[in-house]
Amino acid sequence: MPRDERPGKVQRMENPFRYGSVVTGQDFVDRDKELELLAKELRSGQRILLFSNRRMGKSSLLKELARRYKKEFIFAHVDLYGVATRNKFLEQLVGEVSRAGYTTPEKVVSALAEYIKGVRFRVVITRSGHVGIELDQADVRDNELAEVIDFPEKVAKKRGKRVVVILDEFQEVLAIGGVPLVKTMRSRMQYHAHATYIFSGSKRNLLRQLFLEKEGAFYKSVRPIELGPISRSAFQDFIADRFKAAGGHIDLKLAKRILDASEGYPYYAQQIAHELFDMTRSPTSAEEVEDAIAVAVEHQMPAFLVLWDSIRSPLQRSYLLAVASEPRVPHGTVFIEKHRLRSYSHIQRIEKQLEARGLIESGEIVDPMFALWLRGLRRAP
Ligand SMILES: Nc1ncnc2c1ncn2[C@@H]1O[C@H](COP(=O)(O)OP(=O)(O)OP(=O)(O)O)[C@@H](O)[C@H]1O
Ligand SMILES: [Mg+2]
Repeated sequence: MPRDERPGKVQRMENPFRYGSVVTGQDFVDRDKELELLAKELRSGQRILLFSNRRMGKSSLLKELARRYKKEFIFAHVDLYGVATRNKFLEQLVGEVSRAGYTTPEKVVSALAEYIKGVRFRVVITRSGHVGIELDQADVRDNELAEVIDFPEKVAKKRGKRVVVILDEFQEVLAIGGVPLVKTMRSRMQYHAHATYIFSGSKRNLLRQLFLEKEGAFYKSVRPIELGPISRSAFQDFIADRFKAAGGHIDLKLAKRILDASEGYPYYAQQIAHELFDMTRSPTSAEEVEDAIAVAVEHQMPAFLVLWDSIRSPLQRSYLLAVASEPRVPHGTVFIEKHRLRSYSHIQRIEKQLEARGLIESGEIVDPMFALWLRGLRRAP
């Protein structure tokens, strides 16, 4: 008999709250409306720009989309984060589309031979037994890009099924491929009727530049969808269910406090719930939840310190501390004088700079845990 199943022994249970990596299936909460909307748009061949603040759940949503609709579409998930060069990007694109579209290496080899004649790729079997795609030439010239970019469309047409290429962290494309890659993608993709694309990312300014401004390469070619906060009630129920499944109990009022502190960011809701679960399976007091929130903030501290160090201007620092300590307070004369922010025009300049960095929006701090941390900093001696 396995040790943990001996009668009378209390079973150790894994913490059911996960943060920091993509979640799907049983760990995935809410978002039915978003998933349906995405599926509807994909069916009509609409290209989509999915954006949100960091950690709002874009990558998880896209993985869950691929899981739920895998019968209807062929999903190729390309993550541009950490892809350092244009060649690597092309390998990933062709690799993901090949793996999603074909079941054997032989079929991939013949598809590549048929659809990409000017650029040599080789098919390798990785140690884990998967099909890998590698470029078999040192570089791809700008005029050879089109054939590679057209690959998803060719595969979709042949397979008679829509190929959905997910380009996560798409803003990185500018850094890796520069203007020629972006231009080729834009000019080729507009002719793709069988393949469609979801561009996803969180660096608002870069994405805005690419998609929404007139001179942007993808101007007006996408439907922008912003991913908002997670449903509080759905997440509260999820927290309560998970505590219950572990043989514990949490009052909905306490679960609600977790959602208040995380302001609908699923990442922070998971993290605080995780810390609380580690402390006790049956929290009974508000103090226990506050302790879990404090631990969660503490775990983010190294990242916040780096961020804080990178803000060199004393006026920007004062502004952040002021907004953290007095959220939703109008930035009038009283506020300016109290926090020594000089003048309204100074505030406007600071807001523009901090907004460009994604730290604030409409005069409020974007990241609720960063705001909590700043409040602690302000109180510190
Ligand atoms: N639908 C969901 N249900 C439950 N938890 C979720 C959900 N979506 C996201 N999360 C939680 O939030 C965390 C961050 O999610 P994810 O990585 O998908 O966000 P993201 O927007 O892609 O973030 P980034 O901007 O850093 O790429 C996950 O690790 C998970 O803990
Ligand atoms: Mg992501």
